[in-house]
Amino acid sequence: MRRLTILFFLTTAFVACTEKKGQKQSTDHNDLFSEVIKTAEQQIGYQVKLIEESGKILNPRTVENGYVRYISKDDWTSGFFPGTLFYMYDLTKDPKWLDAGIKYTEDLDSIKHLKWHHDVGFMINSSFGNALRATGNEAYKEVIVEAANSLATRFRPAAGVIQSWDEDRGWQAKRGWMCPVIIDNMMNLELLFKATEISGDSTYHKIAVSHANTTLENHYRNDWSCYHVVDYDKEQGGVRSKQNAQGYADESAWARGQAWGLYGFTVAYRFTHDERYLTMAEKIRHFIFSHPNLPEDLVPYWDFNAPNIPNEPRDASAAAVIASALYELVTLGLKEYEETADKIMTSLAGEAYKAIVGTNGNFLLMHSVGSIPHGNEIDVPINYADYYFLEALARKKESGSKSFLD
Ligand code: GLY
Repeated sequence: MRRLTILFFLTTAFVACTEKKGQKQSTDHNDLFSEVIKTAEQQIGYQVKLIEESGKILNPRTVENGYVRYISKDDWTSGFFPGTLFYMYDLTKDPKWLDAGIKYTEDLDSIKHLKWHHDVGFMINSSFGNALRATGNEAYKEVIVEAANSLATRFRPAAGVIQSWDEDRGWQAKRGWMCPVIIDNMMNLELLFKATEISGDSTYHKIAVSHANTTLENHYRNDWSCYHVVDYDKEQGGVRSKQNAQGYADESAWARGQAWGLYGFTVAYRFTHDERYLTMAEKIRHFIFSHPNLPEDLVPYWDFNAPNIPNEPRDASAAAVIASALYELVTLGLKEYEETADKIMTSLAGEAYKAIVGTNGNFLLMHSVGSIPHGNEIDVPINYADYYFLEALARKKESGSKSFLD
C-alpha cells in the first residue's frame, strides 16, 4: 500500500481562501448546497492542515475543554475521519482529498485484528470500505475480510447475535450482563455483507442475517422504538434483559439508537432484498417522524423521552444518520422520503448547526451528544456527525441534485 504526502495542505493558498471568523453565512436554500460544500472544504481542510503541521497522524473525534480531542486507533470512531475525507473527494473531485483519505485510512490497517469490541465494523467500513469504493485498490479487500473475521469471533450462535461489548470490561462489567448487544451493532453488518461479496464465503452474510433477525425480534417495542441494550444468554440463547445505557431510561427512545436502527435495517435490505428489513425501516421512520417530541427542524433531542424537553440538548449526529438513511431509502425506491431528508439537511446546513469557519475545532456540525448518562460529549461537535452529514450530502449529489429541495 502506498503512502502519500499531502503537500497541498501545507500551502498558504489553502488558508487564503478561508472565510474570516464570524463572517455571516447565507441561509438561502438554493445556495445552501454549494455553500455547505465550500464550508466543508475550508473546515475539514483546516483540520487536515493542522494535523499535517504536527508531523503526526492524528485522528480527531470531538472538542473537549476548548481543544480538539484526538483518539487512538482502537477508539470506535477512528474510521470516521478517514471516511470523511473520501466523502470530501466525492463532493469535490479534488484528488487532494483522495490522497488524504488513503493516508489516514492506511494508518488504521492494524484495526482489522481488533476483537475486543464490535465496532471494528464501523471502523473498517467507514475507512477501508470507502477507500475500496473510491480507489478500487485490491489490497483493501483483504483488510475488509480480515476485519470481518475479527468481528465474526464475537458471534454467539446459541443467541444468534454478535456480542457488542465484553461483559467483563470497563463500565459494562458493573451491569451484570452476559452478552450485551446494542442497537448500534446493526451498523457493523455492512462490513460482513461486503466481506461475503468480496470473498464468496457466505459465513459473514449468514452471521449478519442472524444478527439482524434476532435484533428485529427482540430490540423493538410495539411502537417501533428500540431499546439500546438487549442482554442475551450466550449459552442457552434467549433474552435476559432489555435496557438503555446511553438513553434517558430503560423504556425511553435514545435518539441515535433510533437512527442506527433505521440506517442498519436499510443497509440489511440493500444486501438481502428481504422485505422484512424494509418494513422495519419504514416502521422506525414512522416512529421518528410521528413523534410529538420531534422538533420542527427535524433535529431530535438526544432522547425522544428526555425529561426536560424543550430544554434538552439536540443531537445533530442522530439527524445526520437519519438523513443519510432516508436518502438510501430514496435510492431503494422510496422517493417520498426525499423531502424529509432535504428538510433535515437544510436544518443542519443552516446557522443553527453548521459551524462558522474557523470555529468548532474545525468540525462541520455543532450540537451533538455522545452520552449524557456518562456525562460525555454533551452538546459538542463529533466526527460521526460530520461523517454522516457528508455521506448524506454525497448521496444527494449522486442523485443529480444541485440543491436541497429540488
Ligand atoms: N456507538 C456508540 C454511540 O452511538 O454513541
